[in-house]
Amino acid sequence: MTTTRIPFLDLVTPHKELETELLEIVKKALHSAGFIGGPLVENFEKEFASFCGTKYCVGVNSGTDALRFAFMAAGVQTGDVIVTVPHTFIATTEAISQAGATIAFVDIDESTYTMDPVRLREYLEMHCSFDSKSGKLIETSSQRPVVGIVPVHLYGQTADMDPIMELAERYKLWVIEDACQAHGAEYFSKRENRWLKAGSIGIAAAFSFYPGKNLGACGEAGATTTNDEALAKRMKMIRDHGQAKKYYHDIEGYNGRLDSIQAGILSVKLRHLAKWNEQRRALAHSFHDLLAEAKDFVAIPREASWTKGVYHLYVVRVEDREALQAYLAEAGIGTGIHYPIPLHLQKAYAHLNYKIGDFPVTERVAAEIVSLPMFPQLEKEQQKEVAARVLEFIGLRVGSSR
Ligand SMILES: Cc1ncc(COP(=O)(O)O)c(C=O)c1O
Repeated sequence: MTTTRIPFLDLVTPHKELETELLEIVKKALHSAGFIGGPLVENFEKEFASFCGTKYCVGVNSGTDALRFAFMAAGVQTGDVIVTVPHTFIATTEAISQAGATIAFVDIDESTYTMDPVRLREYLEMHCSFDSKSGKLIETSSQRPVVGIVPVHLYGQTADMDPIMELAERYKLWVIEDACQAHGAEYFSKRENRWLKAGSIGIAAAFSFYPGKNLGACGEAGATTTNDEALAKRMKMIRDHGQAKKYYHDIEGYNGRLDSIQAGILSVKLRHLAKWNEQRRALAHSFHDLLAEAKDFVAIPREASWTKGVYHLYVVRVEDREALQAYLAEAGIGTGIHYPIPLHLQKAYAHLNYKIGDFPVTERVAAEIVSLPMFPQLEKEQQKEVAARVLEFIGLRVGSSR
């Protein structure tokens, strides 16, 4: 077996670099026995809200719960319909189902891999109608009320939020952003004539701090950001067994708190996030240049004019991606696929009765994508080698098909 020389993701180097500071956090928690809540959590929440340009941040134990609790705090009722994309990690839709809602999919845009506002408009115009009695938007096929939209800022690029927000306003729906892969990404809003941070656009947004994320904990962690004080308060109750005061439970909640050691670790790492994101952007731009000569065979990520991406992943598209993966693996280069099976075709969602062909863009994309190594500490020489091997693979393919 070939050993991996250039990993898909290096999580050891950044932790070695920050070891002293990170161990100080663990000591602080050990010496104060402050493991749950307290100043480490409150400080991180303040810092992350400020980083995202929101008033509030509520730390929770994962990105999945950040989404799930945000849906509950937004008032989702059993059977409500929430619209999202089939090209995302299953946590997006697990959170929808687990909040008691029903999933409706709309396809993605082929160049940005995020929610296509045109497909969203089609769904709202052609598959839903306003009920004059309740004033609610009703999905025609299921007769259920549509309540919200969840755009996913996939791979670190934001979805095109202006048209999505306009549709949400027109149809009286809320928007909750899945920003789990987009810490620090920015969106230029023409409506507001300014750059907005991912996580500050909808009524709330969910972030994951899973270790491999642009801002990752040393364990599980997540957070919801919002400008809505009441929503933040509800989130805090939901994450803590429904209590606003110890042992006074206004509702049934969950054990979904962010622990203090993870919060402290996240505060240390947050100080480096802007620099790490810049390093990712610089690496992405070099990849664009290095792969340019094969542009007819390798589709590089397109950064739309309205987004400043943070390249959580560097995803290319090629015709025979399994062969490319095998070729790179043989050369000791790690890759990933995010994600190989569109959600509407997963066994878990067979009951939704979607079929092949329902979301053609997602299906085409899912069959051709490969994520190349991308992390701030990727060295120039390593990157050149990855690109050289991709070009070599393309050269062999093109040569053999002549
Ligand atoms: C798009 C997306 N949504 C939601 C999640 C869920 O986050 P977590 O793994 O922290 O629960 C992730 C992370 O894996 C993700 O990438």
